[in-house]
Amino acid sequence: MSKNTRYKSHQPDESGLVNWSAQENEIWTELLQKQLRLLKGRACDEYLHGLELLNLPSERIPQLAEINSVLIKATGWQVKQVASLINFDEFFRLLANKQFPVATFIRSNEEFDYLEEPDIFHEIFGHCPLLTNPAFAHFTHTYGKLGYAASKEDRAFLARLYWFTVEFGLVNTPDGTRIYGGGVLSSPGETIHALQSDDCVHMPMQPLDALRTPYRIDIMQPIYYVLESFDSLFDIADMDIMALVRQAKQQGLFAPRFLPKEKQAS
Ligand SMILES: [Fe+2]
Repeated sequence: MSKNTRYKSHQPDESGLVNWSAQENEIWTELLQKQLRLLKGRACDEYLHGLELLNLPSERIPQLAEINSVLIKATGWQVKQVASLINFDEFFRLLANKQFPVATFIRSNEEFDYLEEPDIFHEIFGHCPLLTNPAFAHFTHTYGKLGYAASKEDRAFLARLYWFTVEFGLVNTPDGTRIYGGGVLSSPGETIHALQSDDCVHMPMQPLDALRTPYRIDIMQPIYYVLESFDSLFDIADMDIMALVRQAKQQGLFAPRFLPKEKQAS
């Protein structure tokens, strides 16, 4: 949720439909085809199952009502159309009401592999399949309620837990490490990086550690936390997360595994 963006959400018409251009639909198709190839053997089964339920169109960007008809039956969640960027207050309020914000714009070709702003491909392809899963839905709902009630300072800690789960989480499975984070699943570049690069480490998911780990949104991640199993998201949601936030505040952040933005070679 950065402050500036060159993207702008489309306004739906009176019947709630967004009129996407042929070019925008084409970007969706290319992204979808590329990711479907890459995700075999890399995405977790829970995600792939959700993808089947959603049955996303390949030749056009889906309308939000189509997504909602599946989500509501599966877990009671909904997607909600928002402007390109929303503030934390609005973000947490929506999640606390089982509404997942979706900005109705799609990335340009220049940012095909990774972009900082969450576009409709990221939200729908990256997150919505798992919003059909009870463990993920429960975790995200709990997170929204905690975040809505939290102070600005505590929200900064909570944001790290979200980052290392919902956005960039990996999970241990009998077949090996798999991806469930939407930030990875919607990024062709990061899908490969997260599982196959020597420039990142995998650590077991410990919520306290995740709360203390700094991150940057504009680089491929140098660290990923791996859930013991997918259902351990239930256990995390049922922990006293705000007590862990207090502990994280006391213990402070870990040293970053990346250079500060301004010192990076351009
Ligand atoms: Fe996201």
